[in-house]
Amino acid sequence: MNSAAAIVETHLPLAQRRQGKVRDIYRLDPDPASGEPRLLIVASDRLSAFDVVLPTPIPGKGRLLTQVSLGWFERIAQAGIVPIHLLSDDPADIPGIDDGTRASLRGRVMISRACRVVPVECVVRGYLDGSGWVDYQQTGAICGIDLPAGLVRGDRLPEPIFTPATKEEVGTHDQNIGFEQACVVAGRETMETLRRISFEIYALATEYAESRGFILADTKFEFGFPLDAEGNATGDGPMLVDEALTSDSSRYWEASAWTPGGEQPSFDKQFVRDYLNRVVADGRWDKTAPGPELPQDVVDGTLERYQAVLERLFPERNAAH
Ligand SMILES: Nc1ncnc2c1ncn2[C@@H]1O[C@H](COP(=O)(O)OP(=O)(O)OP(=O)(O)O)[C@@H](O)[C@H]1O
Ligand SMILES: [Mg+2]
Repeated sequence: MNSAAAIVETHLPLAQRRQGKVRDIYRLDPDPASGEPRLLIVASDRLSAFDVVLPTPIPGKGRLLTQVSLGWFERIAQAGIVPIHLLSDDPADIPGIDDGTRASLRGRVMISRACRVVPVECVVRGYLDGSGWVDYQQTGAICGIDLPAGLVRGDRLPEPIFTPATKEEVGTHDQNIGFEQACVVAGRETMETLRRISFEIYALATEYAESRGFILADTKFEFGFPLDAEGNATGDGPMLVDEALTSDSSRYWEASAWTPGGEQPSFDKQFVRDYLNRVVADGRWDKTAPGPELPQDVVDGTLERYQAVLERLFPERNAAH
């Protein structure tokens, strides 16, 4: 891992910059061959927790997330489950920027088919934790899906469940919704397709993750419909967009240490959330923007965890960057 300075945000001389919590997105000229609109998606080193972007970056995180996503994209594409939005991860394919800038972006960019993103986050849970655990304690169900009584935090569910959430604007929290509500937002046929695809990816991913000593407790996918040269949906089926199965979008647990009944040793944002919850308990933060600075040991511990996921899942990609 190259330990260059953190990239907090980018200001490339390209059109239509917009900023998500973690990624900066630009519009590129259409693909010269097909005329299809393309985006440049740059994963920064920003970290968000409780939907607030923290002032302290995690240097190299954007590269780690991108490499983990690319590793999974390759496996998902090989399995033929769903097309992927990625066109290229090579900065040489970004027109209109200089070579020094290209070098600084290596490993953290995706040139992608521009899609109309379905405004529903497709969450699959195989284990009980997070907002699912909160919901279960209050209702005995998650997003209206009844579960057996007596489950404890960290338990494996009888079978994976699909618990969609709305995609909210920056600054507000995503809300868990029932499947029926998701159908109202995105259409029943689309949601049934996305549910099936999400389960298929989760099944593939849990099997591979387990072979590398991880439990993939839950994860979140985003899908979109590719746009044509006029910016209308092409009519082609959904594509997997954004990132996939990263430590930002998933819970990774140490399989050998799994002990239901409490919090599990994890390789995701939980480490940061735990720290922030202590800050909240001390009365020094109320989970609204701006967030507090992170101390160096929390930055280092987060980086170590994100790094471990890449090293253990896709060591060849770790070596290359
Ligand atoms: N192929 C694609 N076409 C269009 N939009 C995409 C594509 N891939 C990802 N996106 C969008 O780009 C943004 C990525 O930025 P980031 O992950 O930082 O956003 P976020 O803050 O997590 O989510 P959001 O901004 O949607 O609330 C998301 O809004 C995502 O939906
Ligand atoms: Mg995102």
